[in-house]
Amino acid sequence: MKITIFGTGYVGLVTGTCLADVGHDVLCVDVDTDKIARLERGELPIYEPGLEAMVRHTVVEGRLRFTTDAAAAVAFGTLQFIAVGTPPDEDGSADLQYVLAVARSIGEHMTDYKVVVDKSTVPVGTADKVHAEIAATLAARGLQTAFDVCSNPEFLKEGAAIEDFARGARIVVGTESPRVKTLMRECYAPYNRNREKLIFMDVRSAELTKYAANAMLATKISFMNEIANLAERLGADIEQVRHGIGSDPRIGYHFIYPGCGYGGSCFPKDVQALARTASEIGYRSELLEAVEAVNKRQKTTLFSKLSQAFDGSLTGKTVALWGLAFKPGTDDMREAPSRTLMEALWAAGARVRAFDPEAMAECRRLYGERDDLALVDGREQAVSGADALVICTEWKAFRSIDFAWLKAQLATPVVIDGRNLYDPEAVKAAGLLYFAVGRGESL
Ligand code: UGA
Repeated sequence: MKITIFGTGYVGLVTGTCLADVGHDVLCVDVDTDKIARLERGELPIYEPGLEAMVRHTVVEGRLRFTTDAAAAVAFGTLQFIAVGTPPDEDGSADLQYVLAVARSIGEHMTDYKVVVDKSTVPVGTADKVHAEIAATLAARGLQTAFDVCSNPEFLKEGAAIEDFARGARIVVGTESPRVKTLMRECYAPYNRNREKLIFMDVRSAELTKYAANAMLATKISFMNEIANLAERLGADIEQVRHGIGSDPRIGYHFIYPGCGYGGSCFPKDVQALARTASEIGYRSELLEAVEAVNKRQKTTLFSKLSQAFDGSLTGKTVALWGLAFKPGTDDMREAPSRTLMEALWAAGARVRAFDPEAMAECRRLYGERDDLALVDGREQAVSGADALVICTEWKAFRSIDFAWLKAQLATPVVIDGRNLYDPEAVKAAGLLYFAVGRGESL
């Protein structure tokens, strides 16, 4: 099948490459000429395990191509995926200008039937807006060419995107058109061989499904963080509570890890956008507002614990940070709890010495050269002589630590663990002051 993908960001690139990998002919289009030139040389704008090799072999085999030519891109595929960004507006609602610009571009160039597939996470009602935009652009050209718009939200996790694309739980398609159903079935047939994964529904339900999934997952995390904060003050251990509740299959063990707050490009943005959609239709979603508020507060927990450990005086202290990315397996620092911590530390006059296995370049890009930030080559260099260690991301390399060694490295033996990686007894036995999240220790 010939497929066009608008947008070579995270979602567009993963979608295009995976579809090319299973045999489709894919043309990816972007307005960023520099990005396209780099992609043509095999240089990826993002880090995602396995993606680079897949891009390389699909390009060599001729099934994945890149262009900045919108006319050629519209002429190419029967399916026209829209996978451009929907950054939050100042008020938290999703900014649709890029999505609608693609819609106009499709309307300006199309000469035969197209299925426009909304892949970006867009508010309920966007497919109707995309439809109206294309129809108006066609009408301005004096045309009434047939086309359909459907919603096909992505459920990719950064760091596991290729696996999620190929072996995801479901493929949601919002359409009521039999013609679109047939084409989307053909597109996803390679992933649908062992069991029926396609779930067809109406377009608004598909759009809401995406937000509902992310909001539910974010709610689970904020709920656990709320209980962790209670546990801390009640002298209970959230990790034991987690095991206790997870064993009930109605609750389950997935996605109930407490920590220093959720980050990334999806949960914060989508929870806010859904709350905003609700308020626009005159419904105040107290639950979504609480999920967001609890998370905002949770991101400040590492700083409060540190500050209390040093009696409120962090001026001149050097704090070692293990992990900068918002989660392991990515170099993405969008909305990362590490950023809230670093910015608070700098404001308090402390210095940061940080190590992350993937996100160092991203951190340099975000914060540039500054005297109070040292990016070092390994976990050892980060802690050597530091006044405290804070763990922000649960990378594998941080899971197994010789605590006696760690104690010897630190100038003051303070360890703040934002991901509950260690057995508190073992850490304390080495003479370290250990403060995790929700583990019976109220700092
Ligand atoms: C999330 C969803 O998991 C995907 O299903 C969805 O497709 C994607 O958003 C999207 O909308 O595109 P992602 O943002 O890549 O994926 O990352 P997650 O693995 O979901 O983690 C999000 C944040 O939650 C991280 O900061 C992580 O540390 C935190 N988290 C996760 C917890 O604090 N506790 C948990 O139990 C799980």
